[in-house]
Amino acid sequence: MKGVVLAGGLGTRLSPLTGVTNKHLLPVYDKPMIYYPIETLVRAGIRDIMIVTGGNSAGDFLRLLGNGSEFGLKDLYYTYQRGEGGIAEALSLTEHFADGEKIVVVLGDNIIEDNMASFVQEFEKQKNGARIFLKEVTDPERFGVPEIKEGKVVGIEEKPKKPKSKYAVTGIYMYDESVFDIVKTLKPSRRGELEISDVNNRYIKEGTLEFDILKGFWTDAGTFESLFHAGQLVQAKKRN
Ligand code: DAU
Repeated sequence: MKGVVLAGGLGTRLSPLTGVTNKHLLPVYDKPMIYYPIETLVRAGIRDIMIVTGGNSAGDFLRLLGNGSEFGLKDLYYTYQRGEGGIAEALSLTEHFADGEKIVVVLGDNIIEDNMASFVQEFEKQKNGARIFLKEVTDPERFGVPEIKEGKVVGIEEKPKKPKSKYAVTGIYMYDESVFDIVKTLKPSRRGELEISDVNNRYIKEGTLEFDILKGFWTDAGTFESLFHAGQLVQAKKRN
């Protein structure tokens, strides 16, 4: 399976930290943020990885990551998203790279402790569809939130005022090749973006979306609070 890290967007929520650099190059404890999603894929046994970058300082990704040898990779692939058209738009830029294979997608600001290797193996066996990963959180209204009925996810709402569960849909997703056709049918949301929750809702409609609950810690790092918290989680893990 191939892997994709989505590190586009402008990171305006972290302004002025993102005034002259890219959000995903900011430090999370002792490493740049972008290291964590790459390591998540590498730990899961993924060797073919494309990074979608965008906004400021795109060239710095190349200087920092090179051909990926620091992660034990032979090569890294890069592409560039203009503007901030949404997570699903960033994903659409990787269609040629995926080349008909299933893919694992990680958002560039997600810090995941769990080892995804067994989930990747499960998804290899899954005939078709998608797989998402949930984590119980205290502030679900910040995220995509699943509604769960009789052990199935029956819908996902993006940043709902009244969340239907206490779970967040985390920023790691597994898709079959039909994801790119789904993205082509999406319309921009009220915030002007092609939403990944709309992609996942389409799989729910088709009855082919499976889910698992993540073990270990998980956080995004896209706000001042969560960026600070992410650093603390990584520091605590290093101390143990
Ligand atoms: O972290 C998990 C959450 O991520 C999910 O629960 C939500 O369903 C999902 O929509 C997303 O929510 P955010 O509002 O936190 O996403 P954000 O705009 O912060 O983007 C997260 C990452 O996605 C960002 O670090 C880079 C990538 N991205 C985002 C946008 C808007 C792109 O590559 N291109 C984009 O245009």
